[in-house]
Amino acid sequence: MHLSLTGYMGSGKSTVGKELAAQLNWEFQDLDQFIENQKQKTIAEIFSQEGEIKFRKYEREALIELLESDNDSVISLGGGTPAYYDNMHLVNENSYSVYLRLTPKELIKRLENQKSVRPLLSHLSDDELPEFIAKHLFERRNYYEQAQFTLDVKEKSPHEIAREIILRLPPHRK
Ligand code: S3P
Repeated sequence: MHLSLTGYMGSGKSTVGKELAAQLNWEFQDLDQFIENQKQKTIAEIFSQEGEIKFRKYEREALIELLESDNDSVISLGGGTPAYYDNMHLVNENSYSVYLRLTPKELIKRLENQKSVRPLLSHLSDDELPEFIAKHLFERRNYYEQAQFTLDVKEKSPHEIAREIILRLPPHRK
């Protein structure tokens, strides 16, 4: 079985994913990391050298590969994964999906210091960041909300978040 974590950049998908995998004793897969290993390039390099459209294609292919694997795994998706192709449909057909939800205010606070490593944010000034995030989240919300379980994660530790998610897993998998 697979468990997929979705949510905007900075919502803690990778941190929570590692914690969940440790608690469940499942494999952990980070979709961005998987692509970086496959292509031997950072996500930022793929964006700047090949463009976003190519990245979305690689992301789709990597997603299929991870969802097809037989091992029990926790998969941290990229923040944009649900918004391209029919990725969210694929995720819901092949895994238990969870949306780690935070308000725009909380996300802005978390992302202010991480702009440089995020290709979609790195060109923005500090003044432009809040409006960009609020608007972008508004556009993506409908995709994230297709997840089978939405969890508000504000002020919760990765350990607590993982516990809450495990309690929601189909009974035979707990
Ligand atoms: C993206 C989010 C990133 C990464 C890429 C694009 C997005 O993943 O896939 O920079 O479109 O929101 P994280 O959410 O893990 O930062």
